[in-house]
Amino acid sequence: MDIAIVTGSAGLIGAESVRLFASRGYHVVGIDNNMRKYFFGKDASTAWSRRNLESTVHDYQHFNIDIRDQTFVNQVFAEFNSDVRIIIHTAAQPSHDWAASQPQVDFSVNANGTLNLLEACREFCPDASFVYTSTNKVYGDNPNQLPLIELDTRWELDPSHPFAEHGIDESMSVDHTTHSLFGVSKLAADALVQEYGRYFGMKTACFRGGCLTGPGHSGTRLHGFLSYLVKCALTGDEYTIYGHQGKQVRDNIHSADLVEMFWHFHQNPRCGEVYNAGGSRHSHCSMAEAISLIEELTDRKINVSYSDQSRVGDHIWYVSDTRKFQSHYPKWDYAHDFRTTVKQIVESHTARDRTASDASQQAIATDASTSIESVLAQLERTGVASCDSVRS
Ligand SMILES: NC(=O)c1ccc[n+]([C@@H]2O[C@H](COP(=O)([O-])OP(=O)(O)OC[C@H]3O[C@@H](n4cnc5c(N)ncnc54)[C@H](O)[C@@H]3O)[C@@H](O)[C@H]2O)c1
Repeated sequence: MDIAIVTGSAGLIGAESVRLFASRGYHVVGIDNNMRKYFFGKDASTAWSRRNLESTVHDYQHFNIDIRDQTFVNQVFAEFNSDVRIIIHTAAQPSHDWAASQPQVDFSVNANGTLNLLEACREFCPDASFVYTSTNKVYGDNPNQLPLIELDTRWELDPSHPFAEHGIDESMSVDHTTHSLFGVSKLAADALVQEYGRYFGMKTACFRGGCLTGPGHSGTRLHGFLSYLVKCALTGDEYTIYGHQGKQVRDNIHSADLVEMFWHFHQNPRCGEVYNAGGSRHSHCSMAEAISLIEELTDRKINVSYSDQSRVGDHIWYVSDTRKFQSHYPKWDYAHDFRTTVKQIVESHTARDRTASDASQQAIATDASTSIESVLAQLERTGVASCDSVRS
């Protein structure tokens, strides 16, 4: 049997990977301990996504283990051994700001956790493909040195710059720059993944994501800006923009389009590759443009506040050039544009809210009927009335 091991399987990219590889005949084994709830609180829990996978994906097998624990990781790999064809490693502490609050936890999850998985792969299934979800934060704030011009709703790159037409390619330096501690732990993992490809000849690749997004995100204040913006639009919660006049530009790739990249890589894997993997010029927006689109699609005004203090290492303009990947895998292309992606996020939040409200009405109804039953029982016990007479 062909096995795919997905870490962070209940997260946005992990769950999308589980679905795609299961639909293409793989037995998928997921590793996720819902550490996202520990990082960001119960609103960001991915327990709902795990339940969803277990009830809808045939034969999906979940392991509630921590990637920092080499013993448990090895036990999972030993069970499936050389049947493992691909590892998709998405588990991570994903936020800049959180990393600064607990640097050791951030580093141990992002860097040591990745090393544990590479070692397990080398020991039990060295021929498997190893896909790592890296980040454009490995470039630190070097992109902020590009010549930018301010337009009405966004920052834009000077049209004469070589990156202006297609975005930033993999030649951007990772040195002499402020990464944030998160950027550093991800860069350490990125370098390890490259090295296991170059030094040991393993089929490893780093996909340096721009903003990864989609309807499966459990967006929260510190991570998942589009999903969180939609949440704020629907709940009325305040959304704070940090710096750059709200004109900072991000590219946004739908989780399904990214996972298709992994699939194409796995069909013809290479060793120690690095790919920029974002929405590119195909799908990008400024914060202000995203807010307008979400207000239009939800028909609600977002309660926006503004802080002059930008986030450490935050990019003012980042658009990925994905042409290196496309030149290696020319059959891959985007299936989702920006508007479609945001629309799907709005629909999924609306559906999740409906489910939550049905569940809470059900709970109220159950509570009410339970208390009526207990009053009736008490009346009967004290001989005041029989349940049947009170009911009627
Ligand atoms: N979402 C983005 O915008 C973005 C951008 C660039 C790169 N990335 C990277 O892509 C990857 C996936 O991102 P995502 O948005 O799907 O993240 P996510 O937070 O939705 O999912 C990650 C999952 O990993 C799990 N996890 C965390 N620590 C773990 C541990 N120690 N052991 C086991 N499971 C653990 C979490 O519970 C969560 O379910 C991450 O590595 C992230 O750094 C994300």
